[in-house]
Amino acid sequence: MTLSQTMVQTADAIEQMLDHLLAAADGPENRLIEAMRYATLGGGKRIRPFLAVQGAKLFNVSERSALRTGAAIEMVHCYSLVHDDLPAMDDDDLRRGRPTCHKQYDEATAILVGDALLTQAFEVLADEDTHSDPAVRAALVVALARASGVEGMVGGQMIDLWAEDNDLDIPAITRLQRMKTGALIRVSCESGAILGKAPEAARQALIAYAHDLGLAFQIADDLLDETGDEAAVGKRVHKDADAGKATFVSLLGIGRAREQADMLADQAAKHLEMFGEKADPLRDLARFVVERST
Ligand code: IPE
Ligand code: IPE
Ligand code: MG
Ligand code: MG
Ligand code: MG
Repeated sequence: MTLSQTMVQTADAIEQMLDHLLAAADGPENRLIEAMRYATLGGGKRIRPFLAVQGAKLFNVSERSALRTGAAIEMVHCYSLVHDDLPAMDDDDLRRGRPTCHKQYDEATAILVGDALLTQAFEVLADEDTHSDPAVRAALVVALARASGVEGMVGGQMIDLWAEDNDLDIPAITRLQRMKTGALIRVSCESGAILGKAPEAARQALIAYAHDLGLAFQIADDLLDETGDEAAVGKRVHKDADAGKATFVSLLGIGRAREQADMLADQAAKHLEMFGEKADPLRDLARFVVERST
């Protein structure tokens, strides 16, 4: 199967799982569920669930466990996008080729969508259906909490806002990106090892892969912001430069930023040697991440 076929297959399975987890309710709170479904279903590359599912495959984890875990991580990711687009943050009107959640609904609903998706993600992980061993479920909860909170995505978002008015050098931007974007990518990869109770060396190999992949991924996002096409990317472009955000592109220029992303993608793939052919989809994904146009 080609990478794009495997990605479509995972995306379809995740779509079904999210659809199942975000079931309609009776009562006026259904508006919130509708908005949560709007923010999560029918779009996105589903890269984080892909990493969770492919990581889990290395350790023969059941598909149901992997998909529930991937869906939980995707819920956190979608929440982060809904809040990132709010007027108080990046103030964006377009996401995944559609109006952003606060444009389609309203700001208060978009804030609640984020709150509810974040909370539900942990409910999904802690549920018995995700894994029979409570220690595994607790480890997943801790890993996702660390990746999402002040040490991870949210902390990175804080630094990202601070960076609008402050100069960052390359080490500072690297740290920002590793927190803002890298942390969720890392937990996506690591979750397979947690679910599969993998040996420490295997877990560390996946973490090393994610470390390079996450940075390559955000450099590619910054390059798309600079050089991409709004219709293809599905979100406004040139917003980093307009907001005066320091990125790898603003510091290194397009050519060197691209070289850096390529180098990181190659380096990421090299960490997977111990898994042999089974890790080919993860190797291919590293290339995709830096070559993508969406
Ligand atoms: C966009 O993430 C936000 C970043 C962390 C750079 P993705 O590029 O994975 O967005 P979707 O999920 O495919 O829409
Ligand atoms: C946001 O980074 C990453 C998140 C944690 C949501 P960006 O602000 O660059 O993401 P886009 O470009 O709006 O998707
Ligand atoms: Mg942002
Ligand atoms: Mg943004
Ligand atoms: Mg961006």
